[in-house]
Amino acid sequence: MSDSATPPEKTWSERFSEPVSELVKRYTASVTFDQRMARQDIRGSLAHARMLARQGIIGSDDLAAIEQGMARIREEIDQGTFTWSLDDEDVHLNIEKRLTTLIGDAGKRLHTGRSRNDQVATDIRLWLRDEIDRIIHLIHDFQVAVLALVDKYADTPMPGFTHLQVAQPVTFGHHLLAYFEMTQRDKERFQDCRKRLNRLPLGAAALAGTAYPIDREYVAGELGFDSVCENSLDAVSDRDFAIEFSAAAALLMTHLSRLSEELILWMSPRFGFINLPDRYCTGSSIMPQKKNPDVPELVRGKTGRVNGHLVALLTLMKSQPLAYNKDNQEDKEPLFDTVDTVVDTLRIYADMLSGLCEKVDGVRPERMRSALAEGFATATDLADYLVKKGVPFRDAHGVVAKAVREAEARGCDLPQLTLEELKDFSPVIEADVYQVLTVEGSLASRNHTGGTSPAQVRAALVRARRRIEAV
Ligand code: ARG
Repeated sequence: MSDSATPPEKTWSERFSEPVSELVKRYTASVTFDQRMARQDIRGSLAHARMLARQGIIGSDDLAAIEQGMARIREEIDQGTFTWSLDDEDVHLNIEKRLTTLIGDAGKRLHTGRSRNDQVATDIRLWLRDEIDRIIHLIHDFQVAVLALVDKYADTPMPGFTHLQVAQPVTFGHHLLAYFEMTQRDKERFQDCRKRLNRLPLGAAALAGTAYPIDREYVAGELGFDSVCENSLDAVSDRDFAIEFSAAAALLMTHLSRLSEELILWMSPRFGFINLPDRYCTGSSIMPQKKNPDVPELVRGKTGRVNGHLVALLTLMKSQPLAYNKDNQEDKEPLFDTVDTVVDTLRIYADMLSGLCEKVDGVRPERMRSALAEGFATATDLADYLVKKGVPFRDAHGVVAKAVREAEARGCDLPQLTLEELKDFSPVIEADVYQVLTVEGSLASRNHTGGTSPAQVRAALVRARRRIEAV
């Protein structure tokens, strides 16, 4: 499109004495991106037209013409033959103009009792509602992939970390179940957001409602809304549902960025806990030995973009006076990009985790085990053992710290110290200490709901499967 000062043929309203420049037209138009809501726009218009006819506000012949015209327009859009024009600013005016070209005066009657302000608010809600449903399904698919790994590695020991230092043994299944819980809450957040979103703005018209005898409840029912927005000013102006959605999306991406960071670390030869399938990695153009975990790295990176969109939407809404302001047209691109990013990320992630599960050396328990042997992972178990034998916990902590220092100086792990050597640190230590110093003993002892013992991980897996069936 050129910025030429040549005026377009006509202004878009009789009210104006001069046309906008090409630059202003391009700057204010949204049709290049909001055409994405065309199907929702048609759906909303049809429900509105049916209501107008039922209420006797337009004739049944008008309604029949509108229905026919809209069917044709939908076909044109589906087939990609619809001509979108910047002259008509946005998706709403483009469709209405085409309708009028096709059916004449009946097309001009469609806009009775409504405004683009309540129209656009309705379209976004319809659009986002479908996307939320899709995202909830995709989270479910991601969780199914996580649970397949949990099933396979429910009793595979790995080091649990705090401060990224080896802390205590956990099982790989237990570790992964943490991500199940995070994404379960994410799913609930989307469901919750959907409830508040699912109210009909139409009827609010420009801002104050309309003088026509409309039936908003009928339109709400036609469009699958639970109820109508109670206040017309609020209905056309707030985009809090989009902000809530973006916040839920940002949290989901943040959770996935944590898992991504771990996959990246685990892929590093320093850890070597996993080996992602080649199809999720790329090589280096200069270093032939490299296999880079590009997909998780990009998930980590794209989280920044989704978090940014949340801030953009919050800033968009901040300080906006009632009611509708054109600022709100800026809500769509961040929202669309958030949805696209989340949808692609979830799809690719579910597939990547399934690939990891199926790959022969995808998960490498032997590397997890050797990392455990290097970190004195059962030191807490030794302290707990001493406490059970009557030593106060703070004293036990000191005893174990000394034993760890000794083992470290000798370059061995705690279970490699002899009973005599251990007794030097505390006389209460007996031969049964070796049961708690083993990784298996440590794991099995954490046998309560939410704990890492293999039995508890299996029980949690059964519950998790039941929980996702319910949704
Ligand atoms: N394209 C506009 C938007 O996205 C539609 C509403 C415009 N309303 C108006 N009175 N200019 O918000």
